[in-house]
Amino acid sequence: MADENSLIYLDYNATSPTAPEVINKMVKYLSVHWGNPTSPHVRSEKPKAAIRKSRQQLATLLSCKPEEIIFTSGGSESNALALFGSLKTLKQKRPLANHLIVSVIEHKATTYALQSLAPEYEITEISVDSVRFQFLLI
Ligand SMILES: Cc1ncc(COP(=O)(O)O)c(C=O)c1O
Repeated sequence: MADENSLIYLDYNATSPTAPEVINKMVKYLSVHWGNPTSPHVRSEKPKAAIRKSRQQLATLLSCKPEEIIFTSGGSESNALALFGSLKTLKQKRPLANHLIVSVIEHKATTYALQSLAPEYEITEISVDSVRFQFLLI
């Protein structure tokens, strides 16, 4: 296996090094203003204000409402939130819908989240060959 220094890393979709500007901004919240932003005491004020400002800036950037921004801990939680939320809405619109189709190359975080819905939903995994894989990449 190639050592880390000789590797050309192309998977920034999965993770990337933290930008120095982000580290510089975060240091004071990790070391000085480290309070829980949802606590009801004075230590929450600075982190709460910083999150409010970040939410507003992101909403402006994404042309959405601040309350539409949801911060999560990472990919698995985001996937679960999106999947379960979408399915809840779908269930209201189409109560009989009970069949989910997922490709075998889906990230395990998604596959496991969907599998947790069985037996309420029938889960079908579809395989991927080179032709369909190219199609998925278009
Ligand atoms: C599509 C997708 N879903 C979920 C994850 C898992 O993310 P986390 O480890 O932050 O839960 C990743 C991580 O690479 C991902 O690429």
